[in-house]
Amino acid sequence: MASSAPQHFPDRPQFSDFMKPCRFEGEVRHLEVHGDLPNDIDGTFYRVMPDPQFPPFIENDPWFNGDGNVSAFRIKNGSVTFQQKYVRTEKFVREKEAGRALIGKYRNKFTDAVEFAVRSTANTNIVSFNNQLLALKEDSPPYAMDPETLETKGLYTFDGQLPSVTFTAHPKTDPVTGELICFGYEAKGDGTPDICYYTIGPGGDFTQTLWLVSPVCGMIHDFAVTQNWVLFPVMPQLCDLERMKQGGEHWQWSPETPFYIGVIPRYGAKSSDVKWFTYKNSFPGHTANAYEQNDGKIVFDLGLSDKNVFYWWPDAQGNSPDPATIHSQLTRFTVDPKAKEGSLPEPEVLHDGNSEFYRIDERFSGRKYRHSYFDLMDPRLGTDFPAIGPVMGGGYPPYNALAHHDGSTGETEVYFPGRTHLVQEPVFIPRAGSADEGDGYLLALVNNYRTMSSELHLLDCRDFSKARATILLPIRLRAGLHGNWVAN
Ligand SMILES: [Fe+2]
Repeated sequence: MASSAPQHFPDRPQFSDFMKPCRFEGEVRHLEVHGDLPNDIDGTFYRVMPDPQFPPFIENDPWFNGDGNVSAFRIKNGSVTFQQKYVRTEKFVREKEAGRALIGKYRNKFTDAVEFAVRSTANTNIVSFNNQLLALKEDSPPYAMDPETLETKGLYTFDGQLPSVTFTAHPKTDPVTGELICFGYEAKGDGTPDICYYTIGPGGDFTQTLWLVSPVCGMIHDFAVTQNWVLFPVMPQLCDLERMKQGGEHWQWSPETPFYIGVIPRYGAKSSDVKWFTYKNSFPGHTANAYEQNDGKIVFDLGLSDKNVFYWWPDAQGNSPDPATIHSQLTRFTVDPKAKEGSLPEPEVLHDGNSEFYRIDERFSGRKYRHSYFDLMDPRLGTDFPAIGPVMGGGYPPYNALAHHDGSTGETEVYFPGRTHLVQEPVFIPRAGSADEGDGYLLALVNNYRTMSSELHLLDCRDFSKARATILLPIRLRAGLHGNWVAN
């Protein structure tokens, strides 16, 4: 039967060269290891990448609209096994049956070829909770996966307890109580300003649900949790249902809208307890961490840019910044939760490099902490841009180094993986038997544009100058979003 569906991916940067969809499912045992992979590392690094199963039928689909393909790197006794499998979302399964793409534009159901009950691509984060993996996309409930086989168990509503139609891709685990602290925004459906905050006990039982209303229907991609407070940073990327109905974008940058931070008590709050603080129009990126000072004020560390990082969603006049001029910095807000709503004091820039994908030693999540780790772009390090430029593909912000910022000394050390390499998000692995913050390893997927394949670089945080082990994959993994380490 003849088909009018496209059989090849568009000739666009986000589908070309290193960004060409990978679409591999399977297992590769005993990956090549160079250097010294310590025997005390015993666990699995899970990460997920948007990886479209079929070419899109819509124009200029963004790179992160692809199906979630989950990679698992199982490390034991100095050996690594790689496994990869797509999340069987409703979208994936129905498109597989149809043999073509059925979903339309990013988060716009009015452009779909068929009606979906759940549009999740499950492509943003893969989180371990209560002995299962949750594959997350912030517009939908999670999909649950088996951590051993990567088989999809199905849409997961916590046995019907999930109160909202959405679930954040960045839930926080309290390292002491074991709670999962979560929220959904657009929690009553597309274009609704409702936020649903909920906490889940370590056994999977919901312990609190609280509904809030945001001052604007803006994207709340990440959030922050301390021992007693929860903070919701709202991006000035706003949703308008009427625009969506006309086939437009879900998001539009609003230069007039401030950066809002909503603050509520973590436990026992009422809807009326929320306070909305503001800062000038700017773009909040990922959270590093947050904690309470002795004076009761909240420290909130995150990436912040004065420009629209999501430049592919311009303002109403079509204006967006030149991507080469976008610079995100690790920034510290200090929020007094007892203060009246209003403008926040000027934040402090902790590191002025162009950075993102901040991670910490998560045993200190929500607590006073010292060490942060992140992706950094520093053109002075010697990346061979003429060599890699033509094969990078597009759509993903390039970062050429891993950085460690010591909040006590203010110093930053940098690991440069090579002249033809770029890095993806790192994860911190605590050293077995050590409870000291930052005593452990940093592991990150690295794109090698000379071999056009992927590598894992493992750093021992006691010596950030070089990789202790380099693990080679025989294939190329597309840019991912987030991942997590799960110890055995
Ligand atoms: Fe994210």
